[in-house]
Amino acid sequence: MATTVKSAAGIFERYAAERPNSLRAFERARTLLPDGVEHDMRVAHPFPLYIERADGAYKWDVDGHRYVDYVVGHGSLLLGQNHPAVMGPVREALERGSHFGASHEAVADWAELVTAMVPSAEMVRFHSSGTEATMMAIRMCRAFTGRDKVLKFDEHFHGWHDYVTNSVYPPLDIPMSSGVPGVVRDLVTAIPVNDADLVRRTLAAGDYACVILEPSGAGGGNTPTNVAWVRELRTICTEMDVPLLFDEVITGFRFGTGGYQKEFGITPDLTTLAKILAGGLPGGAVAGRREFVSQIEMRDEPGWNRGGRISHQGTFNANPLAAAAGIACLSHIADGKAHAAANAAAERLRTGFDRVISRHGIDAHTYGSHSFFYVTFNGREDRTAMGAIGAPLKAAMMLNGVQWGAMTSAALTEADTDLTIDAFDKSLTMLAAEGLLS
Ligand SMILES: Cc1ncc(COP(=O)(O)O)c(C=O)c1O
Repeated sequence: MATTVKSAAGIFERYAAERPNSLRAFERARTLLPDGVEHDMRVAHPFPLYIERADGAYKWDVDGHRYVDYVVGHGSLLLGQNHPAVMGPVREALERGSHFGASHEAVADWAELVTAMVPSAEMVRFHSSGTEATMMAIRMCRAFTGRDKVLKFDEHFHGWHDYVTNSVYPPLDIPMSSGVPGVVRDLVTAIPVNDADLVRRTLAAGDYACVILEPSGAGGGNTPTNVAWVRELRTICTEMDVPLLFDEVITGFRFGTGGYQKEFGITPDLTTLAKILAGGLPGGAVAGRREFVSQIEMRDEPGWNRGGRISHQGTFNANPLAAAAGIACLSHIADGKAHAAANAAAERLRTGFDRVISRHGIDAHTYGSHSFFYVTFNGREDRTAMGAIGAPLKAAMMLNGVQWGAMTSAALTEADTDLTIDAFDKSLTMLAAEGLLS
Protein backbone atom coordinates (compact mmCIF):
# COMPACT_ATOMS: atom_id res chain seq x y z
CA MET A 1 0.00 0.00 0.00
CA ALA A 2 2.42 2.64 -1.21
CA THR A 3 1.63 6.27 -0.59
CA THR A 4 3.41 9.38 0.54
CA VAL A 5 2.67 11.79 3.35
CA LYS A 6 1.96 14.46 0.72
CA SER A 7 -1.07 12.64 -0.64
CA ALA A 8 -2.88 13.18 2.69
CA ALA A 9 -2.91 16.94 2.13
CA GLY A 10 -6.51 17.40 3.29
CA ILE A 11 -5.85 15.75 6.66
CA PHE A 12 -2.61 17.65 7.24
CA GLU A 13 -4.13 21.00 6.23
CA ARG A 14 -6.97 20.59 8.73
CA TYR A 15 -4.51 19.47 11.40
CA ALA A 16 -2.46 22.64 10.83
CA ALA A 17 -5.45 24.98 10.60
CA GLU A 18 -6.87 23.77 13.94
CA ARG A 19 -3.53 24.01 15.79
CA PRO A 20 -2.22 27.56 15.39
CA ASN A 21 -0.61 27.60 18.84
CA SER A 22 1.23 24.31 18.31
CA LEU A 23 2.42 25.65 14.95
CA ARG A 24 3.64 28.85 16.61
CA ALA A 25 5.40 26.85 19.34
CA PHE A 26 6.97 24.63 16.69
CA GLU A 27 8.18 27.57 14.56
CA ARG A 28 9.88 29.04 17.63
CA ALA A 29 11.29 25.76 18.96
CA ARG A 30 12.76 24.62 15.61
CA THR A 31 15.09 27.64 15.57
CA LEU A 32 16.53 26.48 18.91
CA LEU A 33 16.06 22.70 18.97
CA PRO A 34 16.55 20.19 16.13
CA ASP A 35 13.07 19.65 14.60
CA GLY A 36 11.69 21.55 17.59
CA VAL A 37 11.64 18.38 19.73
CA GLU A 38 13.84 16.35 22.13
CA HIS A 39 13.20 12.76 21.02
CA ASP A 40 13.13 11.24 17.53
CA MET A 41 9.70 9.74 18.21
CA ARG A 42 8.22 13.20 18.81
CA VAL A 43 8.85 14.38 15.26
CA ALA A 44 5.46 14.48 13.56
CA HIS A 45 3.99 15.53 10.24
CA PRO A 46 3.19 18.34 9.51
CA PHE A 47 4.42 19.47 12.95
CA PRO A 48 4.31 18.02 16.47
CA LEU A 49 1.74 18.75 19.12
CA TYR A 50 2.77 20.95 22.02
CA ILE A 51 1.13 19.81 25.22
CA GLU A 52 0.05 22.05 28.07
CA ARG A 53 -1.10 19.55 30.68
CA ALA A 54 -2.05 15.94 31.24
CA ASP A 55 -4.26 14.04 33.63
CA GLY A 56 -5.41 10.42 33.83
CA ALA A 57 -5.98 9.09 30.33
CA TYR A 58 -5.84 12.50 28.68
CA LYS A 59 -3.61 15.33 27.61
CA TRP A 60 -4.46 18.78 26.34
CA ASP A 61 -2.52 20.69 23.71
CA VAL A 62 -1.78 24.41 23.64
CA ASP A 63 -4.80 24.91 21.36
CA GLY A 64 -7.15 23.41 23.93
CA HIS A 65 -7.72 20.05 22.18
CA ARG A 66 -8.06 17.01 24.43
CA TYR A 67 -6.49 13.71 23.40
CA VAL A 68 -6.85 10.20 24.77
CA ASP A 69 -3.21 9.34 25.44
CA TYR A 70 -1.60 6.20 24.02
CA VAL A 71 2.00 7.41 24.19
CA VAL A 72 1.76 7.17 27.98
CA GLY A 73 5.10 8.86 28.65
CA HIS A 74 6.89 6.62 26.10
CA GLY A 75 5.54 3.68 28.05
CA SER A 76 6.44 4.90 31.53
CA LEU A 77 2.91 5.70 32.75
CA LEU A 78 1.13 2.43 33.42
CA LEU A 79 -1.17 4.26 35.85
CA GLY A 80 -1.85 7.16 33.47
CA GLN A 81 -0.90 10.80 33.82
CA ASN A 82 -0.66 12.60 37.13
CA HIS A 83 -1.78 9.61 39.24
CA PRO A 84 -2.40 10.68 42.86
CA ALA A 85 -0.73 7.56 44.30
CA VAL A 86 2.50 8.66 42.60
CA MET A 87 2.23 12.43 42.54
CA GLY A 88 1.39 12.70 46.26
CA PRO A 89 4.64 11.08 47.41
CA VAL A 90 6.58 13.04 44.77
CA ARG A 91 5.20 16.33 46.11
CA GLU A 92 6.07 15.27 49.65
CA ALA A 93 9.59 14.30 48.56
CA LEU A 94 10.02 17.65 46.81
CA GLU A 95 9.26 19.42 50.07
CA ARG A 96 12.19 17.58 51.65
CA GLY A 97 14.65 18.52 48.89
CA SER A 98 15.30 17.60 45.27
CA HIS A 99 18.87 16.36 45.57
CA PHE A 100 20.86 15.38 48.64
CA GLY A 101 24.14 14.58 46.89
CA ALA A 102 24.28 11.78 49.44
CA SER A 103 22.58 8.49 50.17
CA HIS A 104 19.01 8.36 51.36
CA GLU A 105 17.04 5.40 52.67
CA ALA A 106 14.39 5.43 49.97
CA VAL A 107 16.88 3.93 47.51
CA ALA A 108 17.04 0.64 49.43
CA ASP A 109 13.21 0.66 49.67
CA TRP A 110 13.10 1.03 45.89
CA ALA A 111 15.68 -1.73 45.38
CA GLU A 112 13.77 -4.00 47.78
CA LEU A 113 10.67 -3.65 45.61
CA VAL A 114 12.67 -4.41 42.45
CA THR A 115 14.29 -7.51 43.95
CA ALA A 116 10.94 -8.71 45.29
CA MET A 117 9.19 -8.26 41.95
CA VAL A 118 11.77 -9.17 39.27
CA PRO A 119 12.96 -12.81 39.41
CA SER A 120 16.54 -12.19 38.17
CA ALA A 121 17.11 -9.22 40.49
CA GLU A 122 19.45 -10.11 43.36
CA MET A 123 21.15 -6.72 43.43
CA VAL A 124 20.33 -3.37 41.81
CA ARG A 125 22.19 -0.30 40.56
CA PHE A 126 20.07 2.72 39.65
CA HIS A 127 20.69 5.00 36.68
CA SER A 128 18.84 7.93 35.15
CA SER A 129 17.59 6.29 31.95
CA GLY A 130 17.19 3.04 30.06
CA THR A 131 20.05 3.97 27.75
CA GLU A 132 22.41 4.26 30.69
CA ALA A 133 21.13 0.95 32.04
CA THR A 134 21.86 -1.02 28.84
CA MET A 135 25.26 0.69 28.55
CA MET A 136 26.12 -0.41 32.09
CA ALA A 137 24.69 -3.92 31.72
CA ILE A 138 26.89 -4.52 28.67
CA ARG A 139 29.87 -3.16 30.59
CA MET A 140 29.12 -5.52 33.50
CA CYS A 141 29.06 -8.48 31.12
CA ARG A 142 32.32 -7.40 29.50
CA ALA A 143 34.04 -6.90 32.83
CA PHE A 144 32.73 -10.23 34.14
CA THR A 145 33.72 -12.31 31.10
CA GLY A 146 36.76 -10.38 29.93
CA ARG A 147 35.27 -10.49 26.41
CA ASP A 148 34.27 -7.59 24.17
CA LYS A 149 31.74 -8.76 21.61
CA VAL A 150 27.99 -8.29 21.93
CA LEU A 151 25.27 -10.30 20.20
CA LYS A 152 22.03 -8.41 19.60
CA PHE A 153 19.03 -8.99 17.37
CA ASP A 154 17.72 -7.23 14.29
CA GLU A 155 15.40 -4.29 15.05
CA HIS A 156 15.89 -4.50 18.81
CA PHE A 157 16.30 -1.04 20.31
CA HIS A 158 18.32 -0.65 23.49
CA GLY A 159 18.67 3.13 23.74
CA TRP A 160 20.92 5.44 21.79
CA HIS A 161 24.47 4.77 23.03
CA ASP A 162 27.25 3.66 20.67
CA TYR A 163 27.12 -0.09 21.37
CA VAL A 164 23.51 -0.57 20.28
CA THR A 165 23.21 1.36 17.01
CA ASN A 166 23.65 -1.64 14.68
CA SER A 167 20.62 -3.11 12.96
CA VAL A 168 17.80 -1.20 14.66
CA TYR A 169 15.64 0.39 11.96
CA PRO A 170 15.36 -0.67 8.32
CA PRO A 171 17.47 -0.67 6.22
CA LEU A 172 19.25 -2.74 8.84
CA ASP A 173 22.71 -2.50 7.29
CA ILE A 174 22.78 1.24 7.97
CA PRO A 175 23.42 2.00 11.66
CA MET A 176 20.76 3.86 13.60
CA SER A 177 23.06 6.84 13.96
CA SER A 178 26.08 8.38 12.37
CA GLY A 179 28.98 9.38 14.60
CA VAL A 180 29.63 5.88 15.92
CA PRO A 181 33.17 4.60 15.29
CA GLY A 182 33.47 1.54 13.06
CA VAL A 183 35.66 -0.16 15.65
CA VAL A 184 32.79 0.05 18.11
CA ARG A 185 30.21 -1.23 15.63
CA ASP A 186 32.53 -4.09 14.65
CA LEU A 187 32.21 -5.45 18.19
CA VAL A 188 28.46 -5.86 17.82
CA THR A 189 26.86 -8.65 15.77
CA ALA A 190 23.16 -8.51 14.92
CA ILE A 191 21.17 -11.50 13.70
CA PRO A 192 17.46 -12.25 13.12
CA VAL A 193 15.36 -13.57 16.01
CA ASN A 194 13.73 -16.98 16.38
CA ASP A 195 16.63 -19.02 14.95
CA ALA A 196 18.32 -21.02 17.73
CA ASP A 197 20.84 -22.70 15.42
CA LEU A 198 21.99 -19.34 14.14
CA VAL A 199 22.51 -18.18 17.73
CA ARG A 200 24.58 -21.29 18.49
CA ARG A 201 26.70 -20.90 15.36
CA THR A 202 27.26 -17.19 15.97
CA LEU A 203 28.26 -17.64 19.60
CA ALA A 204 30.55 -20.54 18.70
CA ALA A 205 32.35 -18.37 16.14
CA GLY A 206 33.24 -15.52 18.51
CA ASP A 207 34.14 -14.55 22.00
CA TYR A 208 30.89 -12.99 23.18
CA ALA A 209 30.47 -11.01 26.40
CA CYS A 210 26.67 -11.18 26.27
CA VAL A 211 23.48 -11.72 24.34
CA ILE A 212 21.08 -8.80 24.69
CA LEU A 213 17.46 -8.70 23.58
CA GLU A 214 14.07 -7.20 24.19
CA PRO A 215 12.55 -10.55 25.19
CA SER A 216 9.04 -9.95 23.81
CA GLY A 217 10.47 -8.66 20.54
CA ALA A 218 11.56 -5.35 19.07
CA GLY A 219 9.59 -2.35 20.27
CA GLY A 220 7.88 -4.19 23.12
CA GLY A 221 6.64 -6.98 20.85
CA ASN A 222 6.07 -4.84 17.75
CA THR A 223 8.19 -7.47 15.97
CA PRO A 224 7.35 -10.48 18.14
CA THR A 225 9.69 -13.26 19.28
CA ASN A 226 8.66 -16.86 20.01
CA VAL A 227 8.62 -17.71 23.70
CA ALA A 228 10.03 -21.18 22.90
CA TRP A 229 12.99 -19.54 21.18
CA VAL A 230 13.63 -17.22 24.14
CA ARG A 231 13.53 -20.27 26.40
CA GLU A 232 16.04 -22.02 24.16
CA LEU A 233 18.20 -18.91 24.18
CA ARG A 234 18.41 -19.26 27.95
CA THR A 235 19.56 -22.86 27.56
CA ILE A 236 22.10 -21.96 24.86
CA CYS A 237 23.59 -19.13 26.90
CA THR A 238 23.93 -21.38 29.94
CA GLU A 239 25.52 -24.17 27.90
CA MET A 240 27.91 -21.81 26.10
CA ASP A 241 28.65 -19.74 29.20
CA VAL A 242 27.54 -16.43 27.72
CA PRO A 243 25.57 -14.05 29.99
CA LEU A 244 21.98 -13.43 28.91
CA LEU A 245 20.75 -9.88 29.25
CA PHE A 246 17.03 -9.07 29.04
CA ASP A 247 16.32 -5.45 28.16
CA GLU A 248 13.03 -5.04 30.04
CA VAL A 249 13.04 -1.26 29.93
CA ILE A 250 9.54 -1.43 28.43
CA THR A 251 8.31 -4.88 29.41
CA GLY A 252 9.81 -4.79 32.92
CA PHE A 253 6.74 -3.59 34.70
CA ARG A 254 4.34 -3.54 31.73
CA PHE A 255 4.15 -7.26 30.95
CA GLY A 256 3.22 -7.85 34.54
CA THR A 257 4.54 -7.28 38.02
CA GLY A 258 7.85 -9.02 37.26
CA GLY A 259 8.20 -8.39 33.55
CA TYR A 260 8.49 -10.84 30.70
CA GLN A 261 10.79 -13.04 32.78
CA LYS A 262 8.21 -13.65 35.49
CA GLU A 263 5.37 -14.07 33.01
CA PHE A 264 7.17 -16.80 31.07
CA GLY A 265 9.48 -18.19 33.75
CA ILE A 266 12.71 -17.46 31.88
CA THR A 267 15.37 -15.88 34.07
CA PRO A 268 18.23 -13.90 32.51
CA ASP A 269 21.54 -13.12 34.20
CA LEU A 270 20.95 -9.39 34.03
CA THR A 271 17.91 -7.20 33.44
CA THR A 272 17.70 -3.57 32.43
CA LEU A 273 14.74 -1.56 33.70
CA ALA A 274 13.47 2.01 33.29
CA LYS A 275 10.18 3.76 32.43
CA ILE A 276 7.51 2.35 34.84
CA LEU A 277 10.36 1.55 37.26
CA ALA A 278 10.52 5.28 38.07
CA GLY A 279 6.79 6.00 37.89
CA GLY A 280 7.11 8.56 35.08
CA LEU A 281 10.19 10.37 36.37
CA PRO A 282 13.70 9.85 34.94
CA GLY A 283 15.18 6.59 36.15
CA GLY A 284 16.72 3.31 35.13
CA ALA A 285 18.38 0.29 36.70
CA VAL A 286 20.48 -2.76 36.08
CA ALA A 287 19.32 -5.65 38.22
CA GLY A 288 20.55 -9.20 38.26
CA ARG A 289 23.02 -11.68 39.55
CA ARG A 290 25.03 -10.38 42.48
CA GLU A 291 28.40 -11.30 40.96
CA PHE A 292 27.69 -9.04 37.96
CA VAL A 293 26.19 -6.03 39.75
CA SER A 294 28.61 -6.13 42.67
CA GLN A 295 31.49 -5.43 40.29
CA ILE A 296 30.77 -1.75 41.07
CA GLU A 297 31.72 -2.28 44.74
CA MET A 298 34.98 -0.91 46.11
CA ARG A 299 36.98 -3.78 47.63
CA ASP A 300 39.94 -4.02 49.89
CA GLU A 301 41.79 -6.28 47.44
CA PRO A 302 45.02 -5.43 45.64
CA GLY A 303 44.42 -4.29 42.06
CA TRP A 304 40.61 -4.31 42.38
CA ASN A 305 39.60 -0.68 42.77
CA ARG A 306 41.72 0.45 39.82
CA GLY A 307 41.79 -2.45 37.41
CA GLY A 308 39.05 -4.78 38.56
CA ARG A 309 35.99 -2.79 39.55
CA ILE A 310 33.50 -1.02 37.33
CA SER A 311 33.34 2.71 37.78
CA HIS A 312 29.93 4.34 37.86
CA GLN A 313 28.90 7.90 38.61
CA GLY A 314 25.76 9.81 37.64
CA THR A 315 24.55 13.03 39.21
CA PHE A 316 20.88 12.13 39.12
CA ASN A 317 21.03 8.39 39.86
CA ALA A 318 18.20 7.48 42.23
CA ASN A 319 17.49 11.11 43.03
CA PRO A 320 14.87 11.58 45.77
CA LEU A 321 12.05 12.49 43.39
CA ALA A 322 12.58 9.52 41.07
CA ALA A 323 12.94 7.21 44.06
CA ALA A 324 9.69 8.52 45.58
CA ALA A 325 7.86 8.09 42.28
CA GLY A 326 9.36 4.65 41.71
CA ILE A 327 8.50 3.36 45.16
CA ALA A 328 4.97 4.74 44.97
CA CYS A 329 4.39 3.33 41.49
CA LEU A 330 5.82 -0.14 42.10
CA SER A 331 3.97 -0.45 45.42
CA HIS A 332 0.73 0.56 43.73
CA ILE A 333 1.06 -1.85 40.79
CA ALA A 334 2.40 -4.83 42.77
CA ASP A 335 -1.06 -6.42 43.07
CA GLY A 336 -1.34 -6.67 39.27
CA LYS A 337 -4.67 -4.78 39.09
CA ALA A 338 -3.23 -1.95 36.98
CA HIS A 339 -1.81 -4.47 34.52
CA ALA A 340 -5.15 -6.21 34.26
CA ALA A 341 -6.90 -2.89 33.56
CA ALA A 342 -4.35 -1.77 30.97
CA ASN A 343 -4.37 -5.20 29.31
CA ALA A 344 -8.17 -5.21 29.16
CA ALA A 345 -8.14 -1.77 27.53
CA ALA A 346 -5.65 -2.97 24.88
CA GLU A 347 -7.77 -6.06 24.25
CA ARG A 348 -10.87 -3.87 23.74
CA LEU A 349 -8.91 -1.78 21.25
CA ARG A 350 -7.52 -4.77 19.33
CA THR A 351 -10.99 -6.31 19.06
CA GLY A 352 -12.72 -3.03 18.26
CA PHE A 353 -10.14 -2.03 15.64
CA ASP A 354 -10.49 -5.42 13.93
CA ARG A 355 -14.27 -4.89 13.77
CA VAL A 356 -13.73 -1.49 12.17
CA ILE A 357 -11.16 -2.88 9.74
CA SER A 358 -13.51 -5.59 8.52
CA ARG A 359 -16.35 -3.07 8.14
CA HIS A 360 -14.07 -0.97 5.93
CA GLY A 361 -13.13 -4.09 3.98
CA ILE A 362 -9.43 -3.26 4.00
CA ASP A 363 -6.43 -5.54 4.16
CA ALA A 364 -5.22 -4.85 7.71
CA HIS A 365 -5.33 -6.45 11.15
CA THR A 366 -4.35 -5.77 14.74
CA TYR A 367 -1.86 -7.64 16.87
CA GLY A 368 0.02 -7.30 20.15
CA SER A 369 -0.30 -8.73 23.64
CA HIS A 370 -0.68 -7.41 27.20
CA SER A 371 -1.06 -3.61 27.07
CA PHE A 372 0.31 -3.25 23.52
CA PHE A 373 -1.75 -2.79 20.37
CA TYR A 374 -0.44 -2.59 16.84
CA VAL A 375 -2.13 -2.33 13.45
CA THR A 376 -0.56 -3.68 10.30
CA PHE A 377 -1.59 -2.37 6.89
CA ASN A 378 0.79 -4.52 4.89
CA GLY A 379 0.49 -7.97 6.43
CA ARG A 380 3.83 -7.71 8.24
CA GLU A 381 3.96 -7.91 12.00
CA ASP A 382 7.05 -5.82 12.46
CA ARG A 383 8.23 -2.26 12.76
CA THR A 384 7.17 -1.51 9.18
CA ALA A 385 3.58 -2.61 9.87
CA MET A 386 1.96 0.82 9.47
CA GLY A 387 3.99 1.64 6.37
CA ALA A 388 3.20 4.92 4.65
CA ILE A 389 -0.24 5.02 6.28
CA GLY A 390 1.41 5.85 9.63
CA ALA A 391 1.76 9.65 9.39
CA PRO A 392 -1.68 10.40 7.91
CA LEU A 393 -3.37 7.95 10.30
CA LYS A 394 -1.70 9.53 13.33
CA ALA A 395 -2.74 13.03 12.17
CA ALA A 396 -6.30 11.85 11.48
CA MET A 397 -6.52 10.21 14.90
CA MET A 398 -5.46 13.49 16.51
CA LEU A 399 -8.20 15.29 14.58
CA ASN A 400 -10.53 12.75 16.19
CA GLY A 401 -9.23 13.26 19.73
CA VAL A 402 -6.64 10.50 20.09
CA GLN A 403 -2.88 10.66 20.31
CA TRP A 404 -1.79 7.44 18.64
CA GLY A 405 0.71 5.23 20.37
CA ALA A 406 0.96 1.53 20.95
CA MET A 407 0.39 1.21 24.69
CA THR A 408 -2.46 1.62 27.12
CA SER A 409 -2.64 2.79 30.72
CA ALA A 410 -4.84 1.64 33.57
CA ALA A 411 -6.55 5.05 33.55
CA LEU A 412 -8.56 4.27 30.38
CA THR A 413 -12.27 3.74 30.81
CA GLU A 414 -14.52 1.83 28.45
CA ALA A 415 -15.81 5.20 27.25
CA ASP A 416 -12.22 6.16 26.33
CA THR A 417 -11.59 3.00 24.34
CA ASP A 418 -15.03 3.32 22.66
CA LEU A 419 -14.12 6.88 21.70
CA THR A 420 -10.80 5.58 20.33
CA ILE A 421 -12.43 2.82 18.27
CA ASP A 422 -14.87 5.41 16.88
CA ALA A 423 -11.91 7.73 16.14
CA PHE A 424 -10.20 4.88 14.28
CA ASP A 425 -13.37 4.34 12.23
CA LYS A 426 -13.61 8.04 11.34
CA SER A 427 -9.88 8.21 10.60
CA LEU A 428 -10.05 5.30 8.16
CA THR A 429 -12.95 7.07 6.42
CA MET A 430 -10.78 10.20 6.17
CA LEU A 431 -7.87 8.18 4.80
CA ALA A 432 -10.17 6.53 2.27
CA ALA A 433 -11.44 9.95 1.18
CA GLU A 434 -7.85 10.95 0.46
CA GLY A 435 -7.45 7.81 -1.66
CA LEU A 436 -4.98 6.28 0.79
CA LEU A 437 -6.73 2.97 1.37
CA SER A 438 -7.35 1.86 -2.19
C1 LIG B 1 13.76 -1.69 25.15
C2 LIG B 1 14.34 -0.33 25.42
N1 LIG B 1 15.61 -0.24 25.88
C3 LIG B 1 16.16 0.94 26.16
C4 LIG B 1 15.47 2.11 25.97
C5 LIG B 1 16.12 3.42 26.29
O1 LIG B 1 15.52 3.98 27.41
P1 LIG B 1 15.62 5.56 27.68
O2 LIG B 1 14.74 6.21 26.66
O3 LIG B 1 15.12 5.71 29.08
O4 LIG B 1 17.04 5.93 27.53
C6 LIG B 1 14.16 2.07 25.50
C7 LIG B 1 13.39 3.30 25.28
O5 LIG B 1 12.33 3.34 24.71
C8 LIG B 1 13.58 0.82 25.20
O6 LIG B 1 12.35 0.73 24.73
